[in-house]
Amino acid sequence: MPEHHTPGDSNAITRAYMDSILIEMRHLGAVLPDTRFSLFGESFSTPVMTAALSHLKGRTGSGMAEMAAGCAAAGAVCWAGMGDEGELEEMLATGARVVKIIKPYEDNDSILVKIRHAARHGALAVGMDMDHAFDGRGQHDVVLGEIMSGKTMQELRGFVQASGLPFIFKGVLSARDAEIALELGAAGIVVSHHHGIMPWAVPPLRVLPEIVRAVKGRLKIFADCGISSGYDVFKALALGADAACAGRVIIGPLQEKGLDGVREEISRMTGELAGAMARTACGTLADISADLLWLPRR
Ligand SMILES: Cc1cc2nc3c(=O)[nH]c(=O)nc-3n(C[C@H](O)[C@H](O)[C@H](O)COP(=O)(O)O)c2cc1C
Repeated sequence: MPEHHTPGDSNAITRAYMDSILIEMRHLGAVLPDTRFSLFGESFSTPVMTAALSHLKGRTGSGMAEMAAGCAAAGAVCWAGMGDEGELEEMLATGARVVKIIKPYEDNDSILVKIRHAARHGALAVGMDMDHAFDGRGQHDVVLGEIMSGKTMQELRGFVQASGLPFIFKGVLSARDAEIALELGAAGIVVSHHHGIMPWAVPPLRVLPEIVRAVKGRLKIFADCGISSGYDVFKALALGADAACAGRVIIGPLQEKGLDGVREEISRMTGELAGAMARTACGTLADISADLLWLPRR
């Protein structure tokens, strides 16, 4: 049994599960790997992305803009969490392709304003972190003084259809929610427990195969929580994710070295991913398949 810092610590459970997955090596006929990745019709150098972080301090000013600049330099997609419209504009001005994740604010009009703003200013996609609607006591969550709320299917459909941008539900951790996201017309989901927002949450990589079976390629699947190396990314891709988001692991490098720190961290993980691909005879991301993994015996 894995050791947990506190009982039910979802981050520790997730780390232990990822570490229990082993990779089979395949050398005969192996080729130089190509990590190029395409999303919503655009090309990127890597399927390693930054997670939807927020309120980051940078070396010189806005950490969010520095993070975006680091992503742009690395040819990676950048995700943005809670933050105002000015901050998103600063991020987009770096040339980064940004996915904007909006909180489930109680005030639906403010959500619609943010969705339309992101669309007008050229975000790559928008979405919502539905796992922040409630707190751990079953009340509407309050984040930095802002009240959140659960949403009806009709409200959710309204958000999905509010702009021409692809819409992504973040915080999907079940085949059930993945199927609902599909019905609502979503273009993607982030399989995530939001760095342990609830104890005893199933590790994203553990539930991923079921979600992949339900989705059948009809929307993009992103994995996050605990992604800290190219091997974690390789495992997520092998289990059916299209790409993976790294959050906390990039904060230290961002604060130490600004955009260079973010670029180097994404390159480190992309290099490890390429190394794993080369040693598993995977020439492209599409070659990374589940039969390369040895999952823990149940
Ligand atoms: C400082 C910080 C701020 C975050 N802010 C947001 C946010 O505003 N919106 C959101 O959807 N997720 C937010 N997250 C969650 C991340 O997007 C991600 O789901 C989570 O950190 C798990 O990834 P990690 O284990 O790689 O950090 C935040 C995480 C951190 C550490």
